[in-house]
Amino acid sequence: MVIARKGSADKLSMITAYDATFARIVDESGVDMILVGDSVGSVVQGVTTTIPVTLEEMEYHVKLVARANPRALIVGDLPFGSYQVNSEQAVRSAIRLVKAGAAAVKLEGGVTMFETIAAISRVDIPVMGHIGLTPQSYHRMGGHRVQGRVDGREAGGKERLLEDAHSVEQAGAFSVVIEGVPRTLAQEITQKISIPTIGIGAGPDCDGQVLVLHDILGLTQSNLKFTRQYANVRKVSIDACKQFVNEVKHGVWPDDDHSFH
Ligand code: KIV
Repeated sequence: MVIARKGSADKLSMITAYDATFARIVDESGVDMILVGDSVGSVVQGVTTTIPVTLEEMEYHVKLVARANPRALIVGDLPFGSYQVNSEQAVRSAIRLVKAGAAAVKLEGGVTMFETIAAISRVDIPVMGHIGLTPQSYHRMGGHRVQGRVDGREAGGKERLLEDAHSVEQAGAFSVVIEGVPRTLAQEITQKISIPTIGIGAGPDCDGQVLVLHDILGLTQSNLKFTRQYANVRKVSIDACKQFVNEVKHGVWPDDDHSFH
């Protein structure tokens, strides 16, 4: 279903979710894939990078999303430290996310992850790659910075990103997230590889797009250039809670109609 949409005018969509309630809401939108992302660290756990998120925590959130029994494909994110040691560690971690309910796993890295992606794919677990601005490489990048703006084969260089994309494809990934790269580079990668590219901060020419649910809903106060707030659920939520507080304070709630007799 995902691979067949390569180059299609019917673009792929992916939204994050971390629990059953939001997974049901996201699924009702008709989205193609639900990503249980390690962005759970910043949007749910309140940490500033994805680095502290553990495999046990990801397993837990994948389980919650799987309980919603969504029609959309569940992609579980492998967190930092759960796959970088060697391929055996990566396969074991991927199996844990699949047992928790994921139908595919996502991991960050290109050329250096060739053998890891191949090993996970060999045990029949579909892998989604993730190249460009890879948040787990926070310390190497010196922050969350747009990648591929400079020429070169060093990590983050333009030619290196093309190599990363080819590597992920050759290793057997079924799709790849391209995050935080110039539009023209994402377009070139999309044209040159045979698997669907899913962009975030990578312009409109990818085969699909992904956004973090809490940004879409306006629950985070993010003003990042590449996110889009489609609703202001934060304001609606604060207003609803304020109304409750006010009604309790003045003895308006609960009234007799909402009391047992
Ligand atoms: O963890 C996440 O939500 C992600 C997306 C931003 C691609 O990796």
